[in-house]
Amino acid sequence: MAAALVWIPFLAGLLAGLGRAEAQQTTLHPAVGRLFVHTLDRETPLHLPEHVAVPPTVPVTYHAHLQGHPDLPRWLRYTQRSPHHPGFLYGSPTPEDRGRQVIEVVAYNRDSFDTTQQRLVLLIGDPEGPLLPYQAEFLVRSHDVEEVLPSTPASRFLIALGGLWEPAELQLLNITSALDRGGRVPLPIEGRKEGVYIKVGSASPFSTCLKMVASPDSHARCAQGQPPLLSCYDTLASHFRVEWCNVSLATARDFLTDALVTLLVPLLVALLLTLLLAYVMCCRREGRLKRDLATSDIQMVHHCTIRGNTEELRQMAASREVPRPLSTLPMFNVRTGERLPPQVDSAQVPLILDQH
Ligand SMILES: *[C@@H]1O[C@H](CO)[C@@H](O)[C@H](O)[C@H]1NC(C)=O
Ligand SMILES: *[C@@H]1O[C@H](CO)[C@@H](O)[C@H](O)[C@H]1NC(C)=O
Repeated sequence: MAAALVWIPFLAGLLAGLGRAEAQQTTLHPAVGRLFVHTLDRETPLHLPEHVAVPPTVPVTYHAHLQGHPDLPRWLRYTQRSPHHPGFLYGSPTPEDRGRQVIEVVAYNRDSFDTTQQRLVLLIGDPEGPLLPYQAEFLVRSHDVEEVLPSTPASRFLIALGGLWEPAELQLLNITSALDRGGRVPLPIEGRKEGVYIKVGSASPFSTCLKMVASPDSHARCAQGQPPLLSCYDTLASHFRVEWCNVSLATARDFLTDALVTLLVPLLVALLLTLLLAYVMCCRREGRLKRDLATSDIQMVHHCTIRGNTEELRQMAASREVPRPLSTLPMFNVRTGERLPPQVDSAQVPLILDQH
C-alpha cells in the first residue's frame, strides 16, 4: 500500500512528461544536397516546463543528439554564438541520409537550471525542382557562420550573387564555418571574423565573370598576391567581403550519370581483363611455341628414347635370352634411337660406325 502511494505520483509525473514530449515534437523536411537550417530559440516550442516563455535576458544553451546516439548525424552541425544568441542546427544531408532521423534537443535554462526536451523528426527526401549541377563555393571573410544561417542574410547573399550570375534558381547547398576547414580563430579585434564558406547551386551555367575569376590566369595572379580578374561589378561588396582568390566552381554530375558510371566502370574493367586474358591465352602462347621449338626438339628426342627403352624392356620380359638392354650398348644412338641388331656382341662392335 505504501509502495503504491509512492508509485502513483511517479507514474503521474512520467505520463505528464510523456505528454509534454509529445507536444514538443516537430516534423521537418530537409532535402538531400540542400542546406538545412533549424533555429533553436526561446520562442515556441521551447518553453519552460510550466509553459512560460523564457525572457531574453535568461541565458539558454542547447544540446542536440541523434536519438539513441550520443552525437548528431555526420551531416548535421550545431552552433551557438553565446547563451544569449539562438542556436542553429545546420548542414546538408547526403543521399545516404535519406529517410527518418529523430534529433533530441535539450534546452538548459542557465539561471534556473530547468531543462526542456524537444524532438525534431527529420524526414529527409530528394529535393524538388530542377537539378542544380552548377555549383560555386565562396569564402566570405566578413561573417561568422551564425551570421549567415538566419534566412535574412542568407537570402541577401543569394540576391547579391544574382548580380554576377543568373539570378533565377540560385539555391544554398551548404554552409561551413571556415574554422571547420582548418581556418584560425581570429584575434578578438573588432570586426575580425572567422569566415564562412557558402556553396550555391544553379541550373544556369556559370557567368563569364565567375569563370574568369576561377580561371588559371586568375589563380596565377592570386599566387603572386595580386587580385584575380574580376571582369564585372562586385555586387556582393556592399554587404559581404568575398575572397575572390578562393572561389571554386564545380559541375556536379547528375544521379543518372553517377549510376551509369558505377555500373559501367566495373563492366569495362571486366571486359578489359577478359580481352587481356584472351590475348595471353592464344597470341602470346603461339609466339612462345615458336620460340620454344628448339627445346621441344630435344624433348621429343628424349621422349623417343624413353619409348625405345620401354619397348626394349618389354622384349626383355618376353624373352629372357636378350643379353643386355640396348640402351647400355655403346652404339645406341640417343638422338635417333637407331641401334645395332641385338645379336651383335658388344665386344665386337667398333667404337665408331663410320670406320666399319
Ligand atoms: C557540406 O560541407 C561540409 C564541410 O565542408 C562537408 O563535410 C559536407 O560533405 C558538405 N555536404 C555536402 C552535401 O556537400
Ligand atoms: C585562398 O587562395 C589563396 C591564393 O590562391 C591561397 O594561397 C590560400 O591558401 C587560399 N585560402 C584558403 C583558406 O583556401
